[in-house]
Amino acid sequence: MEKDIAKVLLSEEQIQKRVREMGAQIAADYRDKNPTMVCILKGAVMFYTDLLRAMPIKLAMDFMAVSSYGKHTKSSGEVEIRKDLSTSIENKHVIIVEDIIDSGFTLTYLTRMLAARGASSIAICTLLDKPSRRAPGITLKSNYYGFEVGNEFVVGYGLDYAEAYRNLPYIGVLKPEIYENN
Ligand code: IMP
Ligand code: MG
Repeated sequence: MEKDIAKVLLSEEQIQKRVREMGAQIAADYRDKNPTMVCILKGAVMFYTDLLRAMPIKLAMDFMAVSSYGKHTKSSGEVEIRKDLSTSIENKHVIIVEDIIDSGFTLTYLTRMLAARGASSIAICTLLDKPSRRAPGITLKSNYYGFEVGNEFVVGYGLDYAEAYRNLPYIGVLKPEIYENN
């Protein structure tokens, strides 16, 4: 696994420090709001579990799975719900927890869908943001983000390429030859 990584972009220590800061900030902002924290499976799992343990306030957990790129490294622009929430978010303060925002299609779609279910508020919390990669016409912005990244494909700490590398404790850039031949 390690031999496929060209360079470490964010070390385990950098990630853990930033996630603790984010948890403290969100906890302060949502102290009396009992937010529903929505984890977008599978990529956000590592971030989600670390973030929530850094939030010493009352909250609820729920999970959604949406279609991802599969083996491709570019978004098709289509979003498919593979697993829906198991609780109602009506009149709830919702925080969507995502691994990375790229084109912005996924979260633009999800935000609209959850707003239509009557949430009191919806915020977006992403570990990584690639603001330079937004699709034309997509103006989505995160409310909380951990780090900005450039136009490179990253893996680790939940992020995958063809389902691999999610269990790396750091975030790295994959060697181009790994995906160029696919
Ligand atoms: P968007 O709809 O284009 O914003 O895509 C967001 C989704 O694409 C994320 O939830 C990831 O699953 C995936 N994705 C985007 N960029 C990367 C990357 O650099 N590495 C791994 N997955 C990525
Ligand atoms: Mg993914």
